[in-house]
Amino acid sequence: MHLTTAEIEESLRRLFGESASTVALSSNDRLGRRIFGVDLTQPLTPEQAELMVSLLDRYKLISFPNQGEGQFRIRHLERLANHFGAPIPHPKNYANYADYKKKKVPLALLPVEQQTSTKCDQAFPNALQCREDASSPAVYIVTNLVGSGPDKQEAVVGGLHWHTDIEFEPTPLSTSMFYVQAAPSTRNSAGGQWVDHVPREAGFYHPDSPADLTERRNALPLNGETAYADTASAYADLPDDQKRELDVISVRRRLRKGDPGWLIPLVYVNPRTGEKSLHSPIWASRGKNIAPVEVDGLSDDESRRFLDQLEAHILKPQYRYDHVHAAGDVTIWSNFATVHNAPPAKSVINTPEDARLMYRISCKGEPSYRLPRHDTDAWIEANILPPYRSPAEYVAS
Ligand SMILES: [Fe+2]
Repeated sequence: MHLTTAEIEESLRRLFGESASTVALSSNDRLGRRIFGVDLTQPLTPEQAELMVSLLDRYKLISFPNQGEGQFRIRHLERLANHFGAPIPHPKNYANYADYKKKKVPLALLPVEQQTSTKCDQAFPNALQCREDASSPAVYIVTNLVGSGPDKQEAVVGGLHWHTDIEFEPTPLSTSMFYVQAAPSTRNSAGGQWVDHVPREAGFYHPDSPADLTERRNALPLNGETAYADTASAYADLPDDQKRELDVISVRRRLRKGDPGWLIPLVYVNPRTGEKSLHSPIWASRGKNIAPVEVDGLSDDESRRFLDQLEAHILKPQYRYDHVHAAGDVTIWSNFATVHNAPPAKSVINTPEDARLMYRISCKGEPSYRLPRHDTDAWIEANILPPYRSPAEYVAS
């Protein structure tokens, strides 16, 4: 059962002090909550960690402003992530990931000069430097600093497809989180917006996509917000007979066309609350990079038409929320109960005021209210590629 907002507020004050409070982030009370009065540089007690997981179950996206006032280290984010699941390392952090997969050679992290954090530090060396521990293998840096600098020509990129993070593995990601070090401040210019809408290139979406779906897909924010849609509320609002139909559907997810892939239920049931949500009901969430989803028993075309209807449903305005990032925020979202999209953004910048510098950690598996986690070697080997555990000093209390 879900906690009520009053129960959550009471628990927050009891566990974090009288100044802790919450406020809704969108008109949809079911998606998005800002939580005040929680200092994530400090380790969480098991009871506090359980409340964090309950908050995410209840609101799908939770955001903690003003973290650390300069004291925040990326290892604090990694410690927090360990409560939600086992952090996954990002392949981009390794120099020889392709050879590791093909030839089983031992993994090597990128040399320091090639690490993303080093390249970020070179853009505006006197104005912006990455926080400590940014080079952890579990950290994926989302930024427009690489290749940027005062003498560079500005460039803009469009948004992505709607997706969830790494839904195409047999054990999908449960949770992702950002620590925001820098977000563009030039977006606040009077009457201005950060970027213009960037038209899609031909073939970005299937040409037979319905008009209402195309319109909703393209309605992306233009001030660097990450756009979210609440797939739990979207499921809850469906008629009962349609819910019964969806409850028994499996989808085949796979990395490459022709792979055997695996079947995963389309409807996710939260094991702690029983709440159901549509898990990434999107036919081609990565365009041509990852094989489209196949609905078990349907052809490719039938799968696309079936899932396009669901995507059009979840992208209705009443389920949408565009999250504005601010420096100092830790923002956590459920990958089982939301889909999201990266906004059109300046990809090369020539002033630090346009910088986006966010550290993402994603995790999978069950929450652990006590740290360190107790994932078995066999589970890590089967689910985390490359195998990874956060260093003991990151998760010590
Ligand atoms: Fe994503």
